[in-house]
Amino acid sequence: MPSIATRDEIRLKTAGEMDAMAAAGRAAARTLLALKEHAQPGVKLTELEELAISTLRDNGARPGLLGYHPGFSQVTYLHATCLSVNDEVIHGVPRPIALNAGDVLGIDLVAVIDGWFADTALTVIVGPTPHNPRAEKLLEVTEKAMWLGIERCWPGSTLGDVGYAIQHHVEKNRFSILKQMVGHGVGTAVHEPGLDVANVGRPGSGMRIREGMTFCVEPMVTAGRGDYKHRKNDPWAVLSKDGSLGAHFEHTVGVTKDGPRILTLP
Ligand code: MF3
Ligand code: CO
Ligand code: CO
Repeated sequence: MPSIATRDEIRLKTAGEMDAMAAAGRAAARTLLALKEHAQPGVKLTELEELAISTLRDNGARPGLLGYHPGFSQVTYLHATCLSVNDEVIHGVPRPIALNAGDVLGIDLVAVIDGWFADTALTVIVGPTPHNPRAEKLLEVTEKAMWLGIERCWPGSTLGDVGYAIQHHVEKNRFSILKQMVGHGVGTAVHEPGLDVANVGRPGSGMRIREGMTFCVEPMVTAGRGDYKHRKNDPWAVLSKDGSLGAHFEHTVGVTKDGPRILTLP
């Protein structure tokens, strides 16, 4: 998402509050996997959206994006998922278009249980498909960058350490970060104010990471350049400006004294 960092207090979470977020995170992760399985050629994005709503419900959760009005937007979001195809990197709106074999599909969703929010995303290549080394590499590098960022989420490290780890891995592989898009605090809302998790940075710079912080680590990467654009009549989808493929992986992470705790596991 675009930066909304303000000077608001950061809401630190107790271990019990992280447990509550992990319950929402389990529903989110299970739903994400159901959609990943179901993302086959001929399936419409709107069918995946319906599957997300029913799977979240079956897991005791409500969709956190449906009816959400983010601070960076003029309008309310009317869907449970963001489904981003090919050059759409993030925030693609579910439409009644069918997937094709070889499409690169980003799936992003938020689950809420008892007022606790968890946000997670992944990107898949819709199969069966001929070997597509460039798309496969893009996904592999973006996911690995997310994990390298997450590994830096220890008390005493900085958000610059996280951003550096992500940026270094992506650029070493000659892909590009969408630099204007950042991760965010999460827990009592989809986007909690107070901190931005940039996907670029310098080691030791930026805000110090503290025990109890809960935020999303979510690199948004393109196979081309790192500039983005919008379509004329769609305020949501963020597309690569040069038409290159995009990828996005995301976990909600809680910082404990023993390091990062992934709160969006199935
Ligand atoms: N889940 C997205 C994120 O990772 C937020 C989507 S905002 C919406 O931050 F408005 F598009 F729903
Ligand atoms: Co998300
Ligand atoms: Co997010």
